[in-house]
Amino acid sequence: MSPFDLKAWMQVHLDRVEAALSDAIQAESPAALGQAMRYAVLDGGKRLRPLLVLATAEALGDARQSAAALNAACAIELIHAYSLVHDDMPCMDNDVLRRGKPTVHVQFGEAQALLAGDALQTLAFEMLTPQDGSVAASAQATCVALLARASGYQGMAGGQAIDLASVGQRLSEDQLRQMHRLKTGALLLCSVQMGVACVAGVPDAAQTALARFGQALGLAFQVVDDVLDVTADSATLGKTAGKDEAADKPTYVALMGLEAAKAYADDLADQAMQALADTGLPDARLAALRGLTAMVVQRNN
Ligand code: IPE
Ligand code: IPE
Ligand code: MG
Ligand code: MG
Ligand code: MG
Repeated sequence: MSPFDLKAWMQVHLDRVEAALSDAIQAESPAALGQAMRYAVLDGGKRLRPLLVLATAEALGDARQSAAALNAACAIELIHAYSLVHDDMPCMDNDVLRRGKPTVHVQFGEAQALLAGDALQTLAFEMLTPQDGSVAASAQATCVALLARASGYQGMAGGQAIDLASVGQRLSEDQLRQMHRLKTGALLLCSVQMGVACVAGVPDAAQTALARFGQALGLAFQVVDDVLDVTADSATLGKTAGKDEAADKPTYVALMGLEAAKAYADDLADQAMQALADTGLPDARLAALRGLTAMVVQRNN
């Protein structure tokens, strides 16, 4: 058997996601709101969350044919993009650079950025509920419930609230882990869970192992984000480096130091790989998820 080509796999799926996202957001719109939305979503971003949805669904069934998986992949990216637009606003992290471009509020003004974020959020749920019969009602309902919960006060928004309330504070490791699990981990776990929900009849044992995978990977992702804020430069990151220390944010680097934070991210990636092995799925089916896991800890942006 030929070795798995992650780059080629990614390119096929990135192209599908990009085209579907572009179709979903019309530039022609009331007061050009769609233009701000397109600016926030298109031509940038690693698309890790959509790739996780698609890789999970593919590990379990035939996701290439699945409208459900592509819709879920787009929906999670829309929520993520909305979270970034709001995260960058002056009332939150006050950032001027995102994905190598001026942030949405710098480009379009604060009110338009706020509304673009709001509209991206609701568009995500519209994408999960196509009315053309292409996705079974039960899969639609499960994905809506998963995404709503992961985005809301018990997920990303709740984590963002903790983040803002924690500026200048020294959090314990438990508190920091909880904050990262919510603000970032929840959407990554949700990507995996929606991938599962798009395939009928996944055994309980595989679902449980995949949930452990999503949790470990989600936490690893934010630990690496904390590390890169210190080690990478703004041009490579496409966002302003060094912001966390400047804003006195609690991070894994602040808590345990740079080397220990890197080692912790590696440890979490190992846990994620182990969870994949515990799914009992054949190795060939897990190749994309393994490749994405390695990418999360080896990335430089
Ligand atoms: C950045 O996420 C915000 C965090 C949750 C840490 P990504 O690093 O996935 O950002 P993009 O989508 O690639 O721009
Ligand atoms: C943001 O975390 C997580 C979100 C929910 C958007 P950060 O504030 O660390 O993300 P970056 O570093 O600005 O991308
Ligand atoms: Mg933030
Ligand atoms: Mg930020
Ligand atoms: Mg960060």
